[in-house]
Amino acid sequence: MARPTTRTATYEAPPNIALVKYWGVRDRERALPYNSSLSVTLERMRSRTTVRFDPGLTDDQVRLNGEIASGGPRDGVVRFLDLVRERAGSTDGAVVRSDNNFPTASGLASSASGFAALAGAATRAAGLRLSDRALSQLARFGSGSASRSVFGGFVEWQAGHRSDGSDCYARPLYPAGHWRTLVDLVVLVRAAPVKEVRSQDAMQRTVATSPAYAARLAEVPGRIARIRRAIGARDPERLFPLVMEECDSFREVCETTRPSLDYLTATSRAVLGEVRALNRDAGRSIAAYTHDAGAHVHVFTLERALPTVRRRLARLPGVEKTLALHAGPGAHELAGGSN
Ligand code: PMV
Repeated sequence: MARPTTRTATYEAPPNIALVKYWGVRDRERALPYNSSLSVTLERMRSRTTVRFDPGLTDDQVRLNGEIASGGPRDGVVRFLDLVRERAGSTDGAVVRSDNNFPTASGLASSASGFAALAGAATRAAGLRLSDRALSQLARFGSGSASRSVFGGFVEWQAGHRSDGSDCYARPLYPAGHWRTLVDLVVLVRAAPVKEVRSQDAMQRTVATSPAYAARLAEVPGRIARIRRAIGARDPERLFPLVMEECDSFREVCETTRPSLDYLTATSRAVLGEVRALNRDAGRSIAAYTHDAGAHVHVFTLERALPTVRRRLARLPGVEKTLALHAGPGAHELAGGSN
């Protein structure tokens, strides 16, 4: 059969929030992390990416959220397309269009959804048919956390032990519907600073300089196992303290990195303090905070406590908006993208 001259595919992928953070690369060339991580895939938000390979193009044309991309963001996409071309044995240039239905500048993680969607669209457009596991193995070359956005619900990205990376991939633990009453209240803070250092570079600085990093690495496997069990049992009293313990460990290694990595604003810190106060006032764990390499805070709670938690957090000075999200489905292809 003759190969079609141009091939197009469209993929959608959601962001995810890590309950156990990926932070540290053991092999940069193979994009292998030091530790396994665990996340919840979020509903409603998504990146939608269309890739068209065209033998008539010598260069890639990349449009992100309606703007022609340049510099670092463009380079990241082109490097990823090169990987896909290498696997497909192709030299065709590509036209890439990617849009988020949430504001990128808001500082909500868009690299996970963006690279998961790009991995899906580019491989399909290149005529490759990858399993979801293989897609997660490829997506991590764009951004580690993208490996987890391939799947919906509760997801573990296992670091694996092999030096060739063959046992390093994401896998679904529980589907999105497993725990319907669990809510992620995303607390958007005003004046969230734009990241100065890319996560991939920042984490390597932590590996090289934080005196707390080795102890964190030793703790993570046990914490992942306990968090997995607490999610399995839908037990907030077990889950919430572990989520905060993990977030505190992540923040500690960032703050003890030299030069120090400080992602939070005074408002983010006030949110963490208010979640502790909410738990103290309730006499039990009704909420848990976590944050990534950014100033916004994700607060996990159950539907029944949501009105109280939301009221208390929304009134803190500097809180711009709160957004209640459940776990959602993973990445998928949109029909009609091929020709
Ligand atoms: O996927 P990257 O390279 O943007 O790094 C993600 C790092 C964290 O968001 C802080 C943690 C995580 O596991 O998502």
